[in-house]
Amino acid sequence: GNESTVSITVVGASGDLAKKKIFPALFALFYEGFLPKHFTVYGYARSKMTDAELRIMVSKTLTCRIDQRENCGEKMEQFLGRCFYHSGQYDSEKNFAELDKKLKEHEVGRVSNRLFYLSIPPNIFIDAVKCASLSASSGNGWTRVIVEKPFGRDSESSAALTKALKQYLEEDQIFRIDHYLGKELVENLSVLRFSNLIFEPLWSRQYIRNVQLIFSEDFGTEGRGGYFDNYGIIRDIMQNHLLQILALFAMETPVSLDAEDIRNEKVKVLRSMRPVKLDDVVVGQYKSHTRGGINYPSYTDDETVPKGSLTPTFAAAALFIDNARWDGVPFLMKAGKALHTKGAEIRVQFRHVPGNLYNRNFGTDLDRATNELVIRVQPDEAIYLKINNKVPGLGMKLDRSNLNLHYAARYSKEIPDAYERLLLDAIEGERRLFIRSDELDAAWSLFTPFLKELEEKKIIPEYYPYGSRGPVGAHYLAARYKVRWGDVG
Ligand code: BG6
Repeated sequence: GNESTVSITVVGASGDLAKKKIFPALFALFYEGFLPKHFTVYGYARSKMTDAELRIMVSKTLTCRIDQRENCGEKMEQFLGRCFYHSGQYDSEKNFAELDKKLKEHEVGRVSNRLFYLSIPPNIFIDAVKCASLSASSGNGWTRVIVEKPFGRDSESSAALTKALKQYLEEDQIFRIDHYLGKELVENLSVLRFSNLIFEPLWSRQYIRNVQLIFSEDFGTEGRGGYFDNYGIIRDIMQNHLLQILALFAMETPVSLDAEDIRNEKVKVLRSMRPVKLDDVVVGQYKSHTRGGINYPSYTDDETVPKGSLTPTFAAAALFIDNARWDGVPFLMKAGKALHTKGAEIRVQFRHVPGNLYNRNFGTDLDRATNELVIRVQPDEAIYLKINNKVPGLGMKLDRSNLNLHYAARYSKEIPDAYERLLLDAIEGERRLFIRSDELDAAWSLFTPFLKELEEKKIIPEYYPYGSRGPVGAHYLAARYKVRWGDVG
């Protein structure tokens, strides 16, 4: 039969995401030999650019990773030789038809598979889907479209978007990205849990006291204020990245590792959750702070942010899953920008050992004596378990030590970027790590009512200094559920 070729079109090719993530990920896949033999990469955007100019732009973003192999420069040249550019409007069927013609020239004599990556602002999204899907569908192989968040900003707008998408595409052609699902340690969650007898039986209310999902960045929204102000940290991080981790963490055992089986379980657990209550949320916004002679700006100092904006740059929330496994276990989320540190972690705090002989060694602070499993998603990936241990010597003193699986020490191979995994999966038609529309609906149902209330009531965020640990309100919220936040980093 005919050989096949895949055309990868990056719509929004001059944008930040394309430059920082998509092109470098495609090159990494090429470098490692994961791209099919025949492929072309097309950049599509409004600005006028020649193929040569696109190649210069892309070449600036490519790196050869740490194990600088000597053929890297050569590989880069080969990759860049497969990159082309077409300038067009995002809402022009005519411009996309021109692109289609160019794609056909590359595809001639082969089964043509087409992957479109829509990396464009939400206001032009639906028009672009329409135009792109017309040309996308004119290949004679498969057609897939990768879409990036924001997938709306509440249940209604998300449903409208889904409806529009489905006018032009089948659900199985739509690859909704949540790049946190492409992170190595998030993917490993299921392995950790379902392939280890020492964890699997403990994964319930019987042994787990609380679960914490923490996201922290040590920089603000500088330069992205225009986008961010319309969404805020809850939509930017919690409703998607942290909730997806939660779903994977808490779902029942899937029937198989098949994409539909896994996503069925994720939807089920999301639908077992209680919609978040305003009372169970603390919101914050960073304000300027001078440290070491440097003045760090307020969120509202950004010119693209409206003066007096109440958009949260920090939030903490308590969530609950009303099923038999998790009844009463608080799942605490915390996400913030411009905090003191950068990192993402899952922390699982276990219950006290009942009637433990050694409790007295910890005085009144029994929380300090419970086991805790920490999954450090990033940076410096690690999984460690805090256990109690006797301090060696003649006395009987206990302390806490870590059983530590530190990725950098254990594995010499560098961890691929999330976008590499996700792009490869899309090319291979693997849907496991992409969001199905019913999952998206369920996720929005949990957050939409209280987001509306938050905005209608114009709740004033708790201000916290840039570079601090965030609002103290987060500690009171946790304390209400007898939880103490773990310290990221
Ligand atoms: C994006 C958010 O989805 O994730 C950004 O829009 C955030 O605000 C980013 O900075 C964090 O991703 P990562 O992979 O750098 O942790």
